[in-house]
Amino acid sequence: MKSSTLFVLFALVGGQSLPAAGPVGAIAVEKDVKSGFVMRRSHQVVGAICKDADGNDHKVASENDEDDEDDEDDEGNEAEQTSQQRALFAEHRDLADEPAESLLRRYRAEARASEIAHAFPATSIGAMWPDVTIDEVHKEPWFLNEWQAGLLQHSNFSGGPKAVNDLTQQQIYGCRPFAGSGPTWKEAAERLIYIAHNMLRLDFGSLPGFGDVTAVFNTTLVRDMVLISPHDTGQYGMACLHEGVPGNFTPPPLNCSAWPGQVLGTLDHLDHLILPNLYMAYNTSATLPFPFNASGNRSVRNSIRALFQRSAISKVAYEDIPPVDFWASFQFLEANLLGNPRLPESVKYLIGSFQEIFGTPEGRALQRLAAHRAWPLFWAVGSYMPFPPQQMVNTTTASNRRFADPANAANFTDAAVPAGAAATFEEVWSKIEEARASRNLTEADVAEAWSLLSPGQVRVAPLTAEVCGDHCVALDVRGACVCLKDHAALGTSELALVV
Ligand SMILES: *[C@@H]1O[C@H](CO)[C@@H](O)[C@H](O)[C@H]1NC(C)=O
Ligand SMILES: *[C@@H]1O[C@H](CO)[C@@H](O)[C@H](O)[C@H]1NC(C)=O
Ligand SMILES: *[C@@H]1O[C@H](CO)[C@@H](O)[C@H](O)[C@H]1NC(C)=O
Ligand SMILES: *[C@@H]1O[C@H](CO)[C@@H](O)[C@H](O)[C@H]1NC(C)=O
Ligand SMILES: *[C@@H]1O[C@H](CO)[C@@H](O)[C@H](O)[C@H]1NC(C)=O
Ligand SMILES: *[C@@H]1O[C@H](CO)[C@@H](O)[C@H](O)[C@H]1NC(C)=O
Ligand SMILES: *[C@@H]1O[C@H](CO)[C@@H](O)[C@H](O)[C@H]1NC(C)=O
Ligand SMILES: *[C@@H]1O[C@H](CO)[C@@H](O)[C@H](O)[C@H]1NC(C)=O
Ligand SMILES: *[C@@H]1O[C@H](CO)[C@@H](O)[C@H](O)[C@H]1NC(C)=O
Repeated sequence: MKSSTLFVLFALVGGQSLPAAGPVGAIAVEKDVKSGFVMRRSHQVVGAICKDADGNDHKVASENDEDDEDDEDDEGNEAEQTSQQRALFAEHRDLADEPAESLLRRYRAEARASEIAHAFPATSIGAMWPDVTIDEVHKEPWFLNEWQAGLLQHSNFSGGPKAVNDLTQQQIYGCRPFAGSGPTWKEAAERLIYIAHNMLRLDFGSLPGFGDVTAVFNTTLVRDMVLISPHDTGQYGMACLHEGVPGNFTPPPLNCSAWPGQVLGTLDHLDHLILPNLYMAYNTSATLPFPFNASGNRSVRNSIRALFQRSAISKVAYEDIPPVDFWASFQFLEANLLGNPRLPESVKYLIGSFQEIFGTPEGRALQRLAAHRAWPLFWAVGSYMPFPPQQMVNTTTASNRRFADPANAANFTDAAVPAGAAATFEEVWSKIEEARASRNLTEADVAEAWSLLSPGQVRVAPLTAEVCGDHCVALDVRGACVCLKDHAALGTSELALVV
């Protein structure tokens, strides 16, 4: 289903498309971004290396602060609210009067709370590149990176996206090159797990182009492994380092100057990535190559708009936030994990892609995986993507349609699952299964399924900085936190073990 080379290349591409016309001038936006978000000084991350030779050093970044860390909080004092800022936020009434300093604080808080998400294919058949599948995530005691999964699956490592990934891991993350044509186990263990940081609260967590299932990690347990790039590193590698560009592919141009020094960040120090993240996909002196030109003219306005409309900085209810376009969905920080998180505890929950695996045997395998690991399971409906490239780059998706798998939620969470939710779920499952027997799903199929499911399922939003405890996994849009059911019992057994 996802074996097309073109699809692979799209998966590496980032940017933003033309929004509905708005009243905001580009200059006002630029000023606003600078006054609201630029840091007085940047925290240089030095020693950004992969794991040490023994493979057990998960702490990869050290901060080189010129001043003491505590004055991070008064950086915003320099930033004054301007009329330009008010003009920008006039579209978002809830933000119009918020001082820049407070917006910066909220950016940081939401960035720390955002989902750390990795999408992987259900099976290795037709997968875009080697990665863990339901099978490895079921069996292995650690969450493996793509190189380790490739070794288990006897993958062919030469050519394709793997070459781009290898080069950018070396050039941006400082990983050592492999001595042979593929990695040894030891070399593979020194590489990283790709993460899409879900600031824009996509319902799938990551992007459907990256896999059928998203694993969301427990930030409390993995935060010391996180090292962040402001943009998709595969795309940055192709467009800015001119390395590993496959065949006759023309990557969309980036604004490579937007990220001076290629300084990575951490969840505690990421202010210096905010502007590079917003600016990277907009190179004002370049035109987009086909098929990316189908998405029209874009500017940094689009990324700023997406940030304030979609992230939890906005106070708009999750059900009401505007859709994302293809480009905004690529606006993630790449918050990679330099280490192998231990299973099951490092994964908080799973999200299945409705379009790809709802109503399929792979979808059933996903339910069994979640049950086996006692992980909550959600489904993301609003990420439908058409296949033809020109349509894909010119599509918006609701991407706020996440709901709890009802049988799973009843077992593993305290969600208030409505009576009849499981029966309706199974009816829609059968309907989709039947449709898939003769054809591909259409956007209309997905829309109809959503209209049948949405009234009687537990629809949820990703957690934000301000609500629910660390043992929680979602926010029921009716208002309640959805948390692990056996949290108290688990705590007790851990205590008993210690004693
Ligand atoms: C591995 O892939 C490369 C490039 O796609 C190809 O040339 C080579 O024949 C493949 N090797 C094997 C053993 O399949
Ligand atoms: C913008 O794109 C053009 C054309 O691809 C490229 O030559 C130029 O270096 C890019 N500018 C920056 C700042 O990256
Ligand atoms: C690149 O981004 C910087 C801001 O980081 C901006 O000043 C510059 O004009 C941009 N260059 C291009 C070619 O878009
Ligand atoms: C995109 O580029 C192709 C090839 O150059 C061209 O034929 C097409 O008209 C362009 N489309 C738009 C919308 O500019
Ligand atoms: C992009 O989508 C819009 C709205 O659906 C449509 O009007 C426009 O023609 C599309 N552009 C291209 C180049 O396909
Ligand atoms: C994009 O902008 C250029 C220059 O401003 C303009 O000539 C062109 O028509 C625009 N294209 C679209 C699809 O809006
Ligand atoms: C839920 O728990 C029941 C009882 O242990 C079990 O039979 C059922 O298979 C579980 N279902 C899921 C989806 O975990
Ligand atoms: C489904 O879509 C894919 C990609 O466009 C295509 O290759 C395949 O033939 C389609 N399958 C059916 C049953 O139409
Ligand atoms: C995340 O990890 C922390 C620390 O072990 C734990 O207290 C919390 O319950 C975990 N949350 C989930 C949802 O697994």
